[in-house]
Amino acid sequence: MALFRRPSRPEDKAVMKQMPDAELAQPEAAIESAPTPLAPEVPPTALDGEVESNPEADVVVPIAKVAPSEKPVRALPRVIAIANQKGGVGKTTTTVNLGAALAELGYRVLVVDLDPQGNATTGLGIERRNFEFSMYDVIMKDHPLEDVVEATSVRGLFVAPATLDLSGVEIELVSMFSRELRLKRAIESVIDDYDFVIIDCPPSLGLITINALTAAREVLVPIQCEYYALEGLTQLRATLKLVSSNLNPELELSTIVLTMYDSRTRLSADVAADVTEHFPDQVCATIIPRTVRLSEAPSFGQPITVFDTNSKGAKTYRKLAKEVSNGAPKRAG
Ligand SMILES: Nc1ncnc2c1ncn2[C@@H]1O[C@H](COP(=O)(O)OP(=O)(O)O)[C@@H](O)[C@H]1O
Ligand SMILES: [Mg+2]
Repeated sequence: MALFRRPSRPEDKAVMKQMPDAELAQPEAAIESAPTPLAPEVPPTALDGEVESNPEADVVVPIAKVAPSEKPVRALPRVIAIANQKGGVGKTTTTVNLGAALAELGYRVLVVDLDPQGNATTGLGIERRNFEFSMYDVIMKDHPLEDVVEATSVRGLFVAPATLDLSGVEIELVSMFSRELRLKRAIESVIDDYDFVIIDCPPSLGLITINALTAAREVLVPIQCEYYALEGLTQLRATLKLVSSNLNPELELSTIVLTMYDSRTRLSADVAADVTEHFPDQVCATIIPRTVRLSEAPSFGQPITVFDTNSKGAKTYRKLAKEVSNGAPKRAG
C-alpha cells in the first residue's frame, strides 16, 4: 500500500479504483451545500520540515504514458480552472507561474483571481491600493470584467484581482438569478482578448468554484506530492460530474500537475507513480519540485520567472507552460 493513502478512508480507495459514476456520493448535496468547509490542512510529516530538495537534483519519476508531443494541441483560447478544494497544494503558485511562463512564450494570459485571499493578485504585484473594483464587483454587481483587469510587470500577463469581500459571494449569490453563470458571462465578454484565461479557485467546492467550473472548458488539478495526496479527489470529481451534467457539458479534467516534489523522498516518488498510474492521460510529465525560491517569490510580488529567472522553479514552470500549450498557435494580438 502506498504511504500517502490513509487506508481507512473508503473514498480514497474509491479514487484508486476509478469508482463507477453511479456510486459518486450525493451530487445534489455538493452543489447545494455552498460554501463547503475548507478541507483540513495536510498534517506535517517527518519528511516535511525545513528541508529543501536539492535544486539541481533530477526529478526521476515515471512519466505519463502519453508523451506531451502526442497529446492533442488544444485550440486557443483556453479557459482553465485551477481547482482542488484542499488548501496549500499549489493552486495559486501554479496559476501565477504557469501564467507568467505562458506570457513569456508570447501568449496573452488573463489570471482571474477567485480566491478571497487574493494571493494570485498580490503574488503578481497588484496591491489593494492599486485598484478600485475587483472580481467581487464583476460577479455581484455586473461590473465589466474588462474594467477590473490590471496589467502586471510581465508583458502579456494580466490579472483580474480579488479581495476579501469576495468571500461574501458564497452567501450573497445563493439567492441570485443564474448564480452559477455569472463568471462565465463575464469571461465571454473578454475572451477574444486572450489566449489563456486561468482561474485561481479558492480551497472549497462552493459557489465561487462552481462559477469557475461553469466558465471553464478545462480543469487543472494540482496534486501535492505528500501524504493524503488524493484525499478529496472523489469529491472534486463528483462536483465536476455534477457541473458537466447540469451546467457545462464540455467541462473536462484535462490536466494534473504534481507539485512540491521532493526528489529525496520515497513518498514523493510513490505519490507521483500512483497518480501517473491512475491518470496517465492527464498527468503532466513536468513535475514541480519543492524549492524555497518558489515560496519566496510571492512576497516580492513577482512570478518565479522574474524573481529568480534561472532557478529550478522558473525552468520547471517554463517547461510546464510548453507542455500545457503544446505549441498551439497564438491567436490574440
Ligand atoms: N513547489 C513549491 N515549492 C515550495 N513551496 C511551494 C511550492 N508550491 C507552493 N509552495 C508554497 O506552499 C504554500 C501553498 O501554496 P499555494 O500555491 O498558495 O497553494 P493553494 O493555492 O493551493 O492554497 C505557499 O506558501 C507556497 O508559496
Ligand atoms: Mg491559493
